Amino acid sequence: MTSHVPASVLVASNRGPVSFRTEDDGSLSVHRGGGGLVSGLSAAGQGTGAVWVCAALSEADRTAAREAPSGRIDLAGHDTGDLAVRMLDIDPGTFARAYNAIANSTLWFVHHMLYDTATKPVFDGRFRKEWASYEAYDAAFAAALADEAAPGAQVVVQDYHLTLTPLMLRRLRPDLRIGHFSHTPWAPAEYFRLLPDDIARMVLEGILGADHAGFLTRRWAAAFLDCCEQVLGAEVDRTAMTVRHGGRTTEIGVHGLGADADFLRERASRPDVEARLAALREAVGDRKVIVRVDRTELSKNIVRGLLAYRDLLRGRPEWHGNVVHIAFAYPSRHDLPEYREYTAAVQRIAKEIDDEFGDGTWQPLILHVNDDFPRSLAAYRLADVALVNPIRDGMNLVAKEIPVVSERGCALVLSREAGAYEELGPDAIVVNPFDVTATTEALHEALSMDEGERLERTKRLAAAATALSPQQWFLDQLDAL
Ligand code: G6P
Repeated sequence: MTSHVPASVLVASNRGPVSFRTEDDGSLSVHRGGGGLVSGLSAAGQGTGAVWVCAALSEADRTAAREAPSGRIDLAGHDTGDLAVRMLDIDPGTFARAYNAIANSTLWFVHHMLYDTATKPVFDGRFRKEWASYEAYDAAFAAALADEAAPGAQVVVQDYHLTLTPLMLRRLRPDLRIGHFSHTPWAPAEYFRLLPDDIARMVLEGILGADHAGFLTRRWAAAFLDCCEQVLGAEVDRTAMTVRHGGRTTEIGVHGLGADADFLRERASRPDVEARLAALREAVGDRKVIVRVDRTELSKNIVRGLLAYRDLLRGRPEWHGNVVHIAFAYPSRHDLPEYREYTAAVQRIAKEIDDEFGDGTWQPLILHVNDDFPRSLAAYRLADVALVNPIRDGMNLVAKEIPVVSERGCALVLSREAGAYEELGPDAIVVNPFDVTATTEALHEALSMDEGERLERTKRLAAAATALSPQQWFLDQLDAL
């Protein structure tokens, strides 16, 4: 039991707002993570004394969690508002099965429709063991939240790692107001039904344990409602946006998380970004620049993006020597073989492009595989064209961030399967992400767009991208409770 003052606002997510590192002298240093959730809560949570429950993801995190009095790490003075973090030190085997096998290899794959269904998924005895770990992991979050929460507190539970937590928490603490928010797409009902029936029911009923379930777009919310109706036989009201099941009603909301304009513009003007911008300018000269920034993630469609760029160079020699593609593909989820293979495929095609077109005077492709946020911001500033072509994506914040930071107007090539399409579609060049030929044509159109139109579109894209700030997005979730 914690000895701290109980919190009236709580957030729960697998990855927390900060991570710890062990320095050479053995001391622990704290690092703030990126992303809208951190900035949203840091600003909106000011003065609320919010507590954020997350998993300890490294040995350094575990040490910090063990050393914290009563488990709470006070982050005051770390650019995160008056936030405290409770990092859960979960048994590594349990964590690996819950995070790698269930969250990332099953639920992520279902919602992004990533399976090659001729051979996968296989739901066997091993899967059942992994599922039991996921239940234990979600239960650990529910127990910590129940321990930290003041009577009647508001709790917002984030994402597919924690689908069971809302119902578990309600059973422990019926007095709380509980929200769940999905940052991913939601699978269409016929695809969601790949899951074993009892598991599919548990996931839906777990989320329906919340008073409010939020999604990034109308499309994902509609898919969730279809699943509730078809899998659970729940009573769904699409006008009122409610689901009635097991004697309770859950409200369904759409909150389209936007880019954090103030944070991005300020961060993008700091000296570390200026230095990287100078280096990139030196490398590209006065050539046009196509930028993409992603985790090396199966759903981001980096391979087809590179194939489209190669076809552009093959089919339109006028671009030889006149364009550079800056592709940042940062490491992600390397415990999973699919991600390691995908990373190798990206690097293979990048090398082929370099071998085919590179000469002593022109490097057609600059690929960076190590995460560097200031360098990404520098590329955002330089971009003439942004390529965002995921095969499926909850929102895609890069599509929203680039127009905000871009200096000379940036044409956006955008997949119609990204959540951001609902808001940015009218001013983007929209592609079917599977159609490489159409993507090649879109890149050509974007590179050829006249400057006046590009600037006009960028202004409208930036306005749409920042319509719902992370601060407001977070407050909306609390309001909904
Ligand atoms: C997506 C998920 C987040 C997750 C992020 C990075 O955006 O919605 O919940 O934190 O990917 O993935 P990782 O596995 O590195 O946390």
